[in-house]
Amino acid sequence: MAVSIKTGDEIEKMKVAGRLAAEVLEMIEEHVKQGVTTDTLDQICHNYIVNEQKAIPAPLNYRGFPKSICTSVNHQVCHGIPGKKKLKNGDIINIDITVIKDGFHGDTSKMFYVGTPLPHNKRLVETTYESLRRAIAIVKPGTRLGDIGSLIQKFVEARNYSVVREYCGHGIGRNFHEDPQVVHYGTAGTGEALVEGMTFTIEPMVNLGKRNVKLLGDQWTVVTKDHKASAQWEHTILVTADGFEVLTLRADEEPILPAE
Ligand code: MF3
Ligand code: CO
Ligand code: CO
Repeated sequence: MAVSIKTGDEIEKMKVAGRLAAEVLEMIEEHVKQGVTTDTLDQICHNYIVNEQKAIPAPLNYRGFPKSICTSVNHQVCHGIPGKKKLKNGDIINIDITVIKDGFHGDTSKMFYVGTPLPHNKRLVETTYESLRRAIAIVKPGTRLGDIGSLIQKFVEARNYSVVREYCGHGIGRNFHEDPQVVHYGTAGTGEALVEGMTFTIEPMVNLGKRNVKLLGDQWTVVTKDHKASAQWEHTILVTADGFEVLTLRADEEPILPAE
């Protein structure tokens, strides 16, 4: 699949889809607390997307995925399936939302703390978020994909964390996952150069321990092999003439400023 460059009209639709995805994360915040099941979070998000936003939850039935959101707790890396297990104090959870509105996708995820996080988990979550923000800051026409991957890898490995290699960011638009693949490790000055009108995600998965992961028997849930914690944050980004626009920025976030 070739990289698609969005027209002005398509960009307007991507902005709407991105805003809706961000608004689901804003909405769900108050529900993420001790004793709530991830099934309940899924139901609340599903109803909000379908009934309030008049949009479609993209994960539902995507390649057989059974729920409307992904919930990945503690040592779960990504693609966790909501279920009956209750959140407990000290859990860290990634909620990943993808909506389709007017034919276009918006994809974003954030980490939430259930009660009080352990200091080492808080530092992991904050470092992963900072790696995403710094990577977004260098997005502009001419930036190479390897620049993004290298920045994230260097930033988190300098803090003794590891980057998951098996899953990556992606182009996004009419399709959930489009070219290019946006890996979160690599070598600066290599890879495809970004072009105005591209829309893609950056979604680093960062592990407290080793980078290795395994797939559970449900064929979706990815966990760390060493069962140590993992964190992930995701935004959908538009490449503009002179930089970027974060299509999924939330009200609780500081704006991201271009690097130097
Ligand atoms: N939202 C995930 C991503 O960032 C993909 C989830 S696929 C699903 O690319 F089927 F698990 F929903
Ligand atoms: Co994504
Ligand atoms: Co996602």
